[in-house]
Amino acid sequence: MAPVLMLWLVMSLSGTWAVDKGNFKTCDQSAFCKRQRALKPGESPYRALLETMELTSTRLTLQLINDNNKVHLLLELYRLQGNITRVKINELKPLKPRYEVPDVLIRDLSLLSQDENGVVLSLGSESQRVIVSARPFRLDIMEGRDVLMSLNSRGLLAFEQLRMRKDTPLFSIHILTQWMISIFVPMKWFVFLSPSAISLDFSLPGVEHVYGIPEHADTLRLKTTDNGDPYRLYNLDVFQYELYNPMALYGAVPVMLAHNAQRTTGIFWLNAAETWVDISSNTAGKVCSSETPQTDVRWISESGIIDVFIMLGPTPKDVFSQYASLTGTQSFPPEAAVGYHQCRWNYNDQEDVTSVDAGFDEHNIPYDYIWLDIEHTDGKRYFTWDPHKFATPKEMLQGLMDKKRKMVAIVDPHIKVDSNYKIHNEIRNRAFYIKNKDGGDYEGWCWPGSAGYPDFTRADMRDWWASMFAYDQYEGSMENLYTWNDMNEPSVFNGPEVTMHKDAVHGAWEHRDVHNLYGFYVQMATAQGLIRRSGGVERPFVLTRAFFAGSQRYGAVWTGDNAAEWDHLKISIPMCLSLGLVGISFCGADVGGFFKSPSTELLVRWYQTGAYQPFFRAHAHLDTPRREPWLFGPENTALIREAVRQRYTLLPYWYQQFYHSHRTGQPIMRPLWVEYPQDPATFALDDEFLIGKMAQDDKHFTFRLFSSYPLLLIWSVLSSFQIPVFQRGGSIIPRKSRVRRSSTCMMQDPYTLYVALNPQRTAEGELYIDDGHTFNYEKKEFIHRKLFFANNMLSSEFAYPFFFLSSRLSLCFADGQESQLEFDFDASMSVLTLRKPSMNAGLDWNVMLQ
Ligand code: GLC
Repeated sequence: MAPVLMLWLVMSLSGTWAVDKGNFKTCDQSAFCKRQRALKPGESPYRALLETMELTSTRLTLQLINDNNKVHLLLELYRLQGNITRVKINELKPLKPRYEVPDVLIRDLSLLSQDENGVVLSLGSESQRVIVSARPFRLDIMEGRDVLMSLNSRGLLAFEQLRMRKDTPLFSIHILTQWMISIFVPMKWFVFLSPSAISLDFSLPGVEHVYGIPEHADTLRLKTTDNGDPYRLYNLDVFQYELYNPMALYGAVPVMLAHNAQRTTGIFWLNAAETWVDISSNTAGKVCSSETPQTDVRWISESGIIDVFIMLGPTPKDVFSQYASLTGTQSFPPEAAVGYHQCRWNYNDQEDVTSVDAGFDEHNIPYDYIWLDIEHTDGKRYFTWDPHKFATPKEMLQGLMDKKRKMVAIVDPHIKVDSNYKIHNEIRNRAFYIKNKDGGDYEGWCWPGSAGYPDFTRADMRDWWASMFAYDQYEGSMENLYTWNDMNEPSVFNGPEVTMHKDAVHGAWEHRDVHNLYGFYVQMATAQGLIRRSGGVERPFVLTRAFFAGSQRYGAVWTGDNAAEWDHLKISIPMCLSLGLVGISFCGADVGGFFKSPSTELLVRWYQTGAYQPFFRAHAHLDTPRREPWLFGPENTALIREAVRQRYTLLPYWYQQFYHSHRTGQPIMRPLWVEYPQDPATFALDDEFLIGKMAQDDKHFTFRLFSSYPLLLIWSVLSSFQIPVFQRGGSIIPRKSRVRRSSTCMMQDPYTLYVALNPQRTAEGELYIDDGHTFNYEKKEFIHRKLFFANNMLSSEFAYPFFFLSSRLSLCFADGQESQLEFDFDASMSVLTLRKPSMNAGLDWNVMLQ
């Protein structure tokens, strides 16, 4: 234990920057990855047993057989509403159940749409079909005569059968049999099960650009992995992470997007175990290839089942909606959380907090939240306060509240093992800790020394955790105190790869099965706690470091421990863009860089960039010199002030973007290709981006004309004195021109509309207003207007699509005939589907909302 901690401290104090690669596995060192990667294409032992096929209107099942070992697999194919196909493969008769990820999908997918188009083999539209080839097994998803995507076309489907290892004592077999009929789970015999890795390949004809599968410190466009390691998805606390490589980082979202000028598709691999993703392309590195491009990807996971959602687009926006329909949308934060956050490890005591707070007023810089890191606690016991440095937390919080400001305090999930600590005692007494393989409470080393790790995969544990945020439980807390969940990969300083042992036990499952879900659940439980303490009235704000698919529902993420280096500023853009593509819009990087000390110019430029990223927080390591915005001379203070104030003038627009993202699942920070999907020149750009929807006018956009087109930030031309942000012609953006101390202080201020005309002299935009902090918007307590400029007239009309609950829809024909339309409205997604209009498409018609 001690040497590991020592190393950590020594390295953090020294100036050398390098990840210790020896701490983290390569594919070769990860037994299942090495084994699976050794399989060569073209030798699939799997055959589809067509005679076992069963077909209903929404589901096809059939068995696959591995001709080498005669093991049968069960393949299920579902057609889901909204152009999504789900493919599940499991052992037909597993020795024990294999892990299937719960709680990530937001709808009960057994309630499938009854699609009139009938059988599964037709995929919704007449031109879409799935072709199942029997020998070797292969599945092609077709549109007309084109293959959109093939599964197992390279024959890399692998499914290691669960077996008892040869050295298994007989008594364990007996216990295992018992396990299968009871939920009582003795621990030890997990060790007698054989490996259970799975793998599948996907071919994407016509595709040269794939994106997603965060979190990696890499370019937006994913690289081929033939000459190195696959991209790894395994939540890890990587000290001093290196840029431009496929190593795993703190979070994992197993979603990949594939794009070409004709179509965007997506693959969601729902598996929470350690996962590796290989990418190859027949055109990579070739400038003049005449081959039809094709990208091949291959997913390998250590355990669980194959459960894949294939999202067929066809537009990027369709893929975002399809994915959001599965895992939900970005939570809608309190408006203040969209403002600026001031953090460092650590603000030393209450006086320090007061003086930093006053510094902002003195220098006329707005901010909304000041943050307290681990040193604010009583000996790293979360939910407590250091009795000397933070003796009167309520006084401190009240002081902030009087100024309409807020605070965030850290609550990590490792719990100090200390019999005088209430939280520890309760968790232990309720048997809520994760167990080690021998049945005792798992203990690892983290900030407090020896720590236990609550089993957040348990609903009852999460419920209890949430109850700890009640004002009478969390002493010293008040309604303007919010929460930061860190180290939730989980980080275990003395564990393998600085995380938990894979054989630790969560009830019926090993840690290896659920690893990538841990952080997701920690944030879920915490957000639940913040909601509950207010009786369900207030929106929570929770920042997390670890995440999984669906984490967008619970708050914000940041890119972890970056460094005060130019390349780290640059990589913050593709890292947040990648997260936005897979649903997690509320992303930011530590402004200024966490490790090391930024040059003044770097700090200024980081503020200028951070002001245009969704989560805007400055943060710094304990050992770095102070860097509040006014410490770098009046000229630089002025530049930082200007950047932060620009953020605040644009808060109405940002807030509206969050609302939009919450309602629709569309990303806030967008790569250019999302808005210009047919322009290959945009496909690899990741030093410029758009905020929100700006595409009404694709054909008029040229990069040369950007002075008249925007909100676009072009990082590469960032100059210290001007932030190169442009409002796009054809858009209307609401601002608040008068900047005050905090966003809450600006609530009642008037809006200014910035109307930027396009060459046709038109523009459109939106205005969204609500109380900024409660869930009342769900009860329609908001103003949402659509704004238009046309024919020299600016007008505003009711923006109906976002709530469509009791409306009637009429179909009106030119001759005055009218009929009522059947419709479905999915309010969570703002998707309106009209049913059976029975109309003559050759006539003039209108659909009217009443
Ligand atoms: C981790 C976090 C960092 C935090 C530190 C102390 O390194 O990533 O943001 O300041 O722990 O809590």
